[in-house]
Amino acid sequence: MEGKSNQNLVFYVNGEKIIENQPDPKCTLLQYLRNKLTLTGTKLVCGEGGCGACTVMISKYDDKNHTIRHYSVNACLTPVCAVHGLAVTTTEGIGSLRTRLHPVQEQIAKSHGSQCGFCTPGMVMSMYTLLRNNPQPTMLQIEKYLEGNLCRCTGYRPILQGYGVFSKESCGMGEQCCKNKPRDKEDDNSNKENENYIPPYDPTQEPIFPPDLKVNYKEYNEKRLMFETNQVKWYRPVTLTDLLELKEEYPDSKIIIGNTEVGIESRFKNMKYSVLINASHVPELTDIKSTEDGIKFGASVTLSKVEEVLEKAKEDLPESRCRIFTAVIEMLKWFAGKQIRNTAAVGGNIMTASPISDLNPIFQASSAKLEVVSKGKTTRK
Ligand code: FES
Ligand code: FES
Repeated sequence: MEGKSNQNLVFYVNGEKIIENQPDPKCTLLQYLRNKLTLTGTKLVCGEGGCGACTVMISKYDDKNHTIRHYSVNACLTPVCAVHGLAVTTTEGIGSLRTRLHPVQEQIAKSHGSQCGFCTPGMVMSMYTLLRNNPQPTMLQIEKYLEGNLCRCTGYRPILQGYGVFSKESCGMGEQCCKNKPRDKEDDNSNKENENYIPPYDPTQEPIFPPDLKVNYKEYNEKRLMFETNQVKWYRPVTLTDLLELKEEYPDSKIIIGNTEVGIESRFKNMKYSVLINASHVPELTDIKSTEDGIKFGASVTLSKVEEVLEKAKEDLPESRCRIFTAVIEMLKWFAGKQIRNTAAVGGNIMTASPISDLNPIFQASSAKLEVVSKGKTTRK
């Protein structure tokens, strides 16, 4: 495909560095994984972020807090251009029959949580992402992480029961549960001979985050990106001024963050967009500020982040000042699956002005303020 770009697209898949000099902005991460890298463990089923069969884990270095953030995404909606500077992990990257299955893979198989197997890699990757964030989750957290994964044949009980072994809460014996007792060597050896034995999850054995993405954080995250083919131009500005100028130059362009709306429109409604602007790296739009009368979120802040910040605020404020926060958190529980909330942004939910919008009624009822800006004009509220 004819095209040009101002730099290479660089990301990691299962620890391997991928460099693409002419990426196609219309290509999804799922297409890239399956067709280009022949990593076919990640499945395509609905193609619209509804089933979770295409779930992969994204890991990102957080420069402010010096931590690594792991989150699940739907690869069928994630544009491959959006993973510049990120590490992608697929089911092939955590274990296989050729090497050794990961406890998350082994557990779903041995607990009869897989039949046709189409949903299984997605289930595995959602659960794996949870364990990377929290090696000893609660049952509620397991349910939350799996809520964006649908299974049409097994039923959810064996999956949840199987994954319950990773939770301290899974057993009615509580603290007396045999999992909490030190095991002697003999027990361990006889356990290992048992065909149903699954080694306990050991987070220290997980692969490390690619040092290149940490060391060269600025190189990957603070430079403007432009990829172009003869059909689509893709921009990733890193300043608000650049974003506003691009919007003025291309008034029909679409601003995207998670691509959860535009991805579906392009795939199922045959909508064609010739210019896409990814606003995920504009500092003003990713900022979160506490103000006198509430919390101000940048438009690119993801719904998962909104939920996290509001939960935290509720811990510190009296109940009477948190009722709106509670209403938003409650609504987010029903808002798509975890993978969508991890990438979809609050600004997108407002600006698509969907009549079935989940959050707009709450924002209206609570007299939330919306700030809009365009090039050369003062900010309007
Ligand atoms: Fe169903 Fe991606 S294929 S969510
Ligand atoms: Fe068939 Fe889950 S095992 S869809």
